[in-house]
Amino acid sequence: MSQPRPRARVGVLASGSGSNLQALLDHLDALGTGRAADVALVAANRPDAGALQRAAHRGIPAVTLGDPADGGAMLATLAAHGVDLVVLAGYLKLVPVEVTRRFHGRLLNVHPALLPAFGGAGMYGQRVHRAVLASGARISGATVHFVDDQYDRGPIVAQWPVPVFATDFPETLAARVLRVEHLLLPRAVQAVAAGHVTLAPDGSVVGAFSDGPADAAFTLPDDSSRAGDDIARALHALP
Ligand code: GRF
Repeated sequence: MSQPRPRARVGVLASGSGSNLQALLDHLDALGTGRAADVALVAANRPDAGALQRAAHRGIPAVTLGDPADGGAMLATLAAHGVDLVVLAGYLKLVPVEVTRRFHGRLLNVHPALLPAFGGAGMYGQRVHRAVLASGARISGATVHFVDDQYDRGPIVAQWPVPVFATDFPETLAARVLRVEHLLLPRAVQAVAAGHVTLAPDGSVVGAFSDGPADAAFTLPDDSSRAGDDIARALHALP
């Protein structure tokens, strides 16, 4: 009988309200004994980040980073809490290269667009959705990717489309994309923590993005699943 895989100890870095953190906490709880990870630390670059309150409410260690650019200090904080998987959940600072190197293949980020489009330095929050609307794109979405030493550049783990409606404002599109982020990020974290998805030495992402029976519960908000169906039909119709 093989030993059960020890649960990953996740360190979440956040800057904002922490809704992605909350989605991760709730999904791991819903997985029950099938959960492959526990959130062991929440760190924010701002003392007023809602993510810190959410962590404290759950009794999870919550720290404010002194200097987000200090990679040595960040590594020490992560090590002090036994973190072996780092998740950027609405984190707006560039992760120091010491950290991206030490956590190569163990550092995930969620971005509110379909990378590589609409990503990179300065592309966060409403700026992303404003750029999507200005481009005339009819589909946006959410991306979860491994993090390397440049903004929003690392190998992609998972994506899902979100329709852009003619009546959209940045705020309405942001809200629709955020609902999909809340579904995609927790499942990608579970898949990486469980070893179902890994980053190969050549930079390719290997493995099935499926957390088994819980996948059946991966029902998307209706407008997004419709977009997914439309895309599937359109691709099928291609010669
Ligand atoms: C949201 O704009 C989300 O799209 C991005 O980070 C922002 C805040 O997320 N990933 P959160 O509510 O703090 O998780």
